[in-house]
Amino acid sequence: MGFKNVVIAGGGVLGSQIAFQAAYWGKDVTIWLRSESSISRTRPKIEALKAEYEKAIHLMEKSRSVSIWCNGISKVDSFDSKVCLKRVADAYKRIKIELDIHKACADADIVIESMAEIAKEKTAFYKMLAPVLPEKTVLVTNSSTLLPSKFAAATKRPQKYLSLHFANHIWKQNIAEIMSHDKTDKQYVDQVVAFAKEIGMEPVLVNKEKAGYLLNSLLVPFLLCAMDLYANGVSDPASIDKAWKISTSSPQGPFEILDIVGLETAANICEKYVSVPGFISPLLKKMMFPYNFKGMLKIVRDKIAQGKTGKAAGVGFYKYSSK
Ligand SMILES: NC(=O)c1ccc[n+]([C@@H]2O[C@H](COP(=O)([O-])OP(=O)(O)OC[C@H]3O[C@@H](n4cnc5c(N)ncnc54)[C@H](O)[C@@H]3O)[C@@H](O)[C@H]2O)c1
Repeated sequence: MGFKNVVIAGGGVLGSQIAFQAAYWGKDVTIWLRSESSISRTRPKIEALKAEYEKAIHLMEKSRSVSIWCNGISKVDSFDSKVCLKRVADAYKRIKIELDIHKACADADIVIESMAEIAKEKTAFYKMLAPVLPEKTVLVTNSSTLLPSKFAAATKRPQKYLSLHFANHIWKQNIAEIMSHDKTDKQYVDQVVAFAKEIGMEPVLVNKEKAGYLLNSLLVPFLLCAMDLYANGVSDPASIDKAWKISTSSPQGPFEILDIVGLETAANICEKYVSVPGFISPLLKKMMFPYNFKGMLKIVRDKIAQGKTGKAAGVGFYKYSSK
């Protein structure tokens, strides 16, 4: 029997999704929050996720197309909408919210830290957590950009600490990137892999610390290359997307992906590259000078200024009829 009692620290966009996904697959889930005001922000997220899962299941009843199927909710062959809807109802009831860290973690098998991406605050949290956690607890971080070795000492359990990185819309984009640092004990990596499978994820191992894990190590340079082609006037977004999609049979081109990611995030990534060349991709560091980051930033900042921030806003590089 794997981990049963799951504690999520942070109930933001991802924390609430991880909580719902784990509860959906039968785990006893407690979300630890730091204040009453956090509760009023997290509860509506849980309500919204319940509705989101139900909507997804009703769509899955009508079509098995890859574009709508959510493998985090059910595999195609074993899909039974009644069973899935019952799991959603149970998950909703099973999630507890707790402000007292001692109560939250008293019997935790795993704590998933999914707090804001602020290194100083994560370190302070780990230091506060160290004397509270039971011996058995495995601790993971969902950080997208900070490496686990940065925090390992603060956790006081470096051998039981690693990264378990989820993607936004966890029930559909059900990848779990599991990254250890040089002091993580392999047995806990195996336990986290097993846990990820139990909650409907497809785990992949990142055996060496790498900013960007696997996905962003591939995706970020790809998106920057596409924006560079546009910024230098080599071609336009629709043609660049068409070239990519037809030649590789991919469902989306880079500018369609940028619209989904959101142009604010795209601007942040460009800015990060200007200040830290080689962030995520050492390859791009070597090739940095031919890249027109100034031109890319101008394009995305102009769009943001016009409210064209991507698919969620109804317009980015493309216009969308529904958000
Ligand atoms: N949003 C994404 O698409 C995404 C995807 C994968 C991983 N992540 C990672 O997940 C983590 C959370 O991201 P998010 O998008 O959910 O952020 P968010 O801003 O939506 O939520 C952050 C949560 O952390 C809490 N928090 C912030 N500072 C805290 C502190 N000092 N003590 C206790 N709680 C604190 C906030 O109250 C909130 O509940 C980050 O490490 C991020 O890199 C995000």
